[in-house]
Amino acid sequence: MALIELQEVSKIFGFGEATTLALDEINLSVEKGEFLAIMGPSGCGKTTLMNIIGLLDRPSHGKYLLEGRDSSRLRAGRQAKLRRDRIGFVFQFYNLLPRLNVLDNVALPLAYRGMTPVRRAKRASDILELIGLRDREYFLPKHLSGGQTQRVAIARALINNPSIIIADEPTGNLDSHDSKVVMELFADLHRSGHTILMVTHNPELTRYASRVIYMRDGMVVEEESTSIGAIAKGALRTYLRKRKTTEEDVLAGVSALLKDVPGKAMTSEPKAKPKSKSKKRSRRALRKARR
Ligand SMILES: Nc1ncnc2c1ncn2[C@@H]1O[C@H](COP(=O)(O)OP(=O)(O)O)[C@@H](O)[C@H]1O
Ligand SMILES: [Mg+2]
Repeated sequence: MALIELQEVSKIFGFGEATTLALDEINLSVEKGEFLAIMGPSGCGKTTLMNIIGLLDRPSHGKYLLEGRDSSRLRAGRQAKLRRDRIGFVFQFYNLLPRLNVLDNVALPLAYRGMTPVRRAKRASDILELIGLRDREYFLPKHLSGGQTQRVAIARALINNPSIIIADEPTGNLDSHDSKVVMELFADLHRSGHTILMVTHNPELTRYASRVIYMRDGMVVEEESTSIGAIAKGALRTYLRKRKTTEEDVLAGVSALLKDVPGKAMTSEPKAKPKSKSKKRSRRALRKARR
């Protein structure tokens, strides 16, 4: 039995004319212990997919089975409990509470479990030891480097000993050194049996993954098993085409931004005029000017 199984999962945002099909009949299964990397241009549905798998959101259509259980039939409270016990989230923008020190930030998810403060602090302290930040326990987030902050966020994600870790562009905000430190931490977690789902734009990071899926327009368009240590072939191709992808990314981002603006819902990307045509026109303009 797969740990995660999506059957023709679709997600639609909005109403009436201004709807977005963020996920388009996705089929996906993830086995326990996999390290799955999810790639694709901005706006293709990666975060939406992670939110559904992480029980932060529900499919509009289709079925999501988590450990064989149909999660779409669960009531909200039950779903929240399952999320708390099974899933750890790591985001691009750490989401630590600025007024709480490192220890309290890490211990926060335990507060909802009715554990005594002393036991909470002990457990948080143990996790911080594990990731090498015990000496930063009483620091506020603003006094940490980017890499340290993300490690604290990972510690917080681990506090409930989740079986699934969902990381949405976890190194998107880090320099290459800090990225490496954070990725090594994920690699350790993977080796110790955690299932990891990670969204990334960085082909380099597919080295850590055991499988890569490529998304476009709400669909999984390609997938590839990879060996740990090697960059996935598909990711490498994207990397080589990088300039083109970046351009598409920008366009997708713009259309995503305009999506909720009344009367500006874009159904298709604005097309740039073909170069040859404008060249012809300017040549004609030149000739005209010479006359
Ligand atoms: N809460 C929302 N309401 C309306 N549209 C949304 C919402 N969340 C995402 N979308 C739209 O769904 C599409 C997929 O978004 P997202 O999953 O964030 O893509 P990605 O993470 O790949 O950049 C985009 O077109 C985005 O604008
Ligand atoms: Mg996203």
